[in-house]
Amino acid sequence: MPDGTTIQRMFAEVAPGYDRANRALSLGIDVWWRRCAVRTVDVRPGERGLDVCSGTGDLAFALQRAGADVVGADFCAPMLARAAAKGHGAADRAAPGFLCADALALPFADGVFDFATVAFGIRNVSDPVAALREMARVVRPGGRVVVLEFTKPRVPLLGSAYRFYFRRVLPRLGAWISGAKNGAYHYLHESVMAFPEREAFADVMRSAGLSSPRYRLLTGGIAALYRGEVDAS
Ligand SMILES: C[S@@+](CC[C@H](N)C(=O)[O-])C[C@H]1O[C@@H](n2cnc3c(N)ncnc32)[C@H](O)[C@@H]1O
Repeated sequence: MPDGTTIQRMFAEVAPGYDRANRALSLGIDVWWRRCAVRTVDVRPGERGLDVCSGTGDLAFALQRAGADVVGADFCAPMLARAAAKGHGAADRAAPGFLCADALALPFADGVFDFATVAFGIRNVSDPVAALREMARVVRPGGRVVVLEFTKPRVPLLGSAYRFYFRRVLPRLGAWISGAKNGAYHYLHESVMAFPEREAFADVMRSAGLSSPRYRLLTGGIAALYRGEVDAS
């Protein structure tokens, strides 16, 4: 697992082409996955939300459009600069606030948010349990923590096609589309292969103190949405 500084540098280089690469590599399905994440959060108008590892802010914007007041936090300034630039054209209501912060030391008091989310970010954090604990800490008792992350499909044909695409095609295509020369898309493949998924990740959520973790698979098991609750007691 690369350290935080290496991750920051990697995303700084990827930032200019990040959204373009996401759309192209997922054939636009990533937009739908984030919409599913918003539904899983079950946003009520006026709720306060935190999107951790917010990157270029796509999930933060989707949550804000659903009626929440959202803060997007990430420790990579060039990713956040792209997020903030998207907000300039948006109506006030549709623009979240963005701030530079490490997921392992969130600069917020306990229980100030109604929910916290992280999309395709928890896998990149050097200590995922500690990051989930931080998310749980800043969410009020009874609030929700929602994670969107890649999984490995187990359906035979889709599984083989996916492994071929992820291992052989995506690293080259990702580097070409995003312009990144730093192996970021090789890292994407390696990190997804190594990361706990499904029940194993639900256990990670439990060990971070979240209760009733459950998940649902998306697109034949290429991604999953996890939701856990912060204990009301
Ligand atoms: C793959 S991007 C995901 C961005 C966005 N959530 C999305 O759905 O497209 C992962 C992000 O996690 C951020 N990240 C990784 N480790 C972090 C940490 N410890 N604290 C804050 N951000 C972190 C990176 O800077 C990067 O922007």
